[in-house]
Amino acid sequence: MGMSVTTSVATEDDAERILKLQYLCYQGEAELYGDWAIEPLTQTLESLRTELKERHVLVSRLGDEVVGSVRGWVDADGVGRIRRLIVHPRMQRHGLGSRLLSAMERELAAGSRPVAAYRLFTGHRSLGNLRLYQRLGYRQTQVEEVNSKLSFLVLEKPVAQQAGRLAATA
Ligand SMILES: CC(C)(COP(=O)(O)OP(=O)(O)OC[C@H]1O[C@@H](n2cnc3c(N)ncnc32)[C@H](O)[C@@H]1OP(=O)(O)O)[C@@H](O)C(=O)NCCC(=O)NCCS
Repeated sequence: MGMSVTTSVATEDDAERILKLQYLCYQGEAELYGDWAIEPLTQTLESLRTELKERHVLVSRLGDEVVGSVRGWVDADGVGRIRRLIVHPRMQRHGLGSRLLSAMERELAAGSRPVAAYRLFTGHRSLGNLRLYQRLGYRQTQVEEVNSKLSFLVLEKPVAQQAGRLAATA
């Protein structure tokens, strides 16, 4: 592939590029549910900028281009919440999404607050996403109906299950 992809903590300057990539990546999800008003497609730049200040946000770059991202935070119950895993369509299915998700787990685990488990969700028709999460150790815990077109499948993974955490964060 020539240049290699690097992953690091996002800066405020990345906001526009992340949002652009998010809009691109979630087109397929919108099509799948027949709903172009889903949150990832209607999020404002201002709201993303707030997330950049308050949450953990990682970006993957190929040169100057942002080609992947993921966000996360630790909630009041010590659950590491992971959202908006995105990889540029032309870079998908080469392992970057899995690497970003694992990097976010390590990022949350390395923070000052203890993390008991990681939690994320995906739409009920997003079987590809479901396979990816299951392969990385997530198991379905709940179904939440969002509206008549969409339910969220909630998946969790206990932190203890993560092998080699110390080695991986070193
Ligand atoms: C989910 C996403 C980040 C995965 O990125 P990626 O770099 O392709 O991930 P990886 O290469 O590590 O893993 C690929 C796996 O993802 C799963 N997958 C995700 N979307 C898929 C799709 N549309 N079709 C088939 N498999 C898909 C499969 O399990 C695939 O494994 P396989 O190639 O062995 O079948 C990417 O597909 C994306 O940006 N999707 C749109 C946004 C989205 O839905 N994000 C998740 C919200 S919950």
